Amino acid sequence: MTDPLRIGIAGLGTVGVGVVKIVRQKANLLATRSGRPIEIAAVSARNRDKNRGVSIDGYGWEDDPVKLATREDVDVFVELMGGADGPARAATEAALRAGKDVVTANKAMLAIHGQELAELAESRGHVIRFEAAVAGGIPVVKALTEGLAGNQVTRVMGVMNGTCNYILTRMEESGLPYQTVFDEADKLGYLEADPNLDVGGIDAGHKLALLASIAYGTQVDFGAIELEGIQKISIDDIRTARNMGFRIKLLGVAQMTGRGLEQRMSPCLVPADSPLGQLQGGTNMVVLEGDSVGQIVLRGAGAGEGPTASAVLSDIIEIARGTRLTTFGQPAAGLSRARPARTTTPAPYYLRMKLVDKPGAMAKIATVLGDAGISIDRMRQTQHESGAAPVLIVTHRTDRGSLDIALENFAATGVVQGEPVAIRIEDV
Ligand code: NAP
Ligand code: HSE
Repeated sequence: MTDPLRIGIAGLGTVGVGVVKIVRQKANLLATRSGRPIEIAAVSARNRDKNRGVSIDGYGWEDDPVKLATREDVDVFVELMGGADGPARAATEAALRAGKDVVTANKAMLAIHGQELAELAESRGHVIRFEAAVAGGIPVVKALTEGLAGNQVTRVMGVMNGTCNYILTRMEESGLPYQTVFDEADKLGYLEADPNLDVGGIDAGHKLALLASIAYGTQVDFGAIELEGIQKISIDDIRTARNMGFRIKLLGVAQMTGRGLEQRMSPCLVPADSPLGQLQGGTNMVVLEGDSVGQIVLRGAGAGEGPTASAVLSDIIEIARGTRLTTFGQPAAGLSRARPARTTTPAPYYLRMKLVDKPGAMAKIATVLGDAGISIDRMRQTQHESGAAPVLIVTHRTDRGSLDIALENFAATGVVQGEPVAIRIEDV
């Protein structure tokens, strides 16, 4: 056997502890698979005295992750602290400048600074691996960069935030409203420290931006994602969708079109009997479509100690084996800047609104839709509640631009109470 690969782990939370456990418990397996032993040289976290349920005796300790990243006895810096900037970014840059390879689970950092970090790494002959950053234990980064390297990717889709999928699934099965289920998820510890990262679609948007970069050979552009969270989804929407044979999912879609790169992360209706519609609880699913391979579906745990650490270990083993891949599947310096395109791919839309009880109210709504070139497929009005009638409309295929015009013009009719809900019905 050759020399051991020595890793330095910054961050001993959920993921970091999972990595320490695997390295300790499966040393022989890892050495056999890698062709060399994998050893933890040193670790870093905020609090040295915290009981982490795993022994860290025998490893070097650094209070400062930048010091850990530049230690002589560290070959690979494993960043598991999180945060787009701060110590994660500082230590990652320091590691690359000090001649180390980097493994990270940090989608926020890579979605914002991925291009410059990849250029820094590659200009010095180092690698950054990030399998754990997207969909936890699902090996989707490797599927795209390696397994589908011979394809022109036509579409990337996925449910990539387990917390949102848990909330939407739980609302459907319990009949409880959004806020109650959100509070439950909070008590269960499912939410990020800033819950808006989950329910605002930001965390899933970070993941989509990384996959889009690999799929289309473009620079990561999180800022170009059309982002909408699940906060406005009501139990009425969930019930109505179910009655129509759909489920609501926070769905990410990245698609290259003649006008540029469409990237959206938003609640969508998907057929209840489709693989995405069947996805329950905190599980993730990524659907990849390529011109040669057709469609492939990857499903599994998107978070948690074991699944995420499993992905981190796959990157460490890859480096130990001597595999030297570029960060985003082709040299970072050659990645083009995609022209961001607002979604123009047409789709049917689900609209829910409350109409005041006035003669001609429904006619005004139908006129606004007609004027915007939108044709109605189905329409239903239920009993008035406090002077307003809940109205549900399913349109024929239309583009988002026309829909936005209609939504703006609804306000001028004076018959719509509150803000209408518009949800895309995605062709999956
Ligand atoms: P976590 O449980 O909150 O742990 C964060 C760790 O970082 C803690 O050990 C903390 O130290 C340490 N830390 C924070 N600031 C530090 C600093 N300035 N210096 C040294 N150490 C510092 O986080 P996590 O859930 O393991 O997530 C880690 C990364 O993996 C994040 O990028 C996250 O997005 C990503 N990720 C997580 C999951 C998941 O299921 N949890 C899944 C996929 C990706 P103390 O323990 O001493 O406070
Ligand atoms: N908050 C994330 C989720 C954790 O719920 O999927 C994994 O990235």
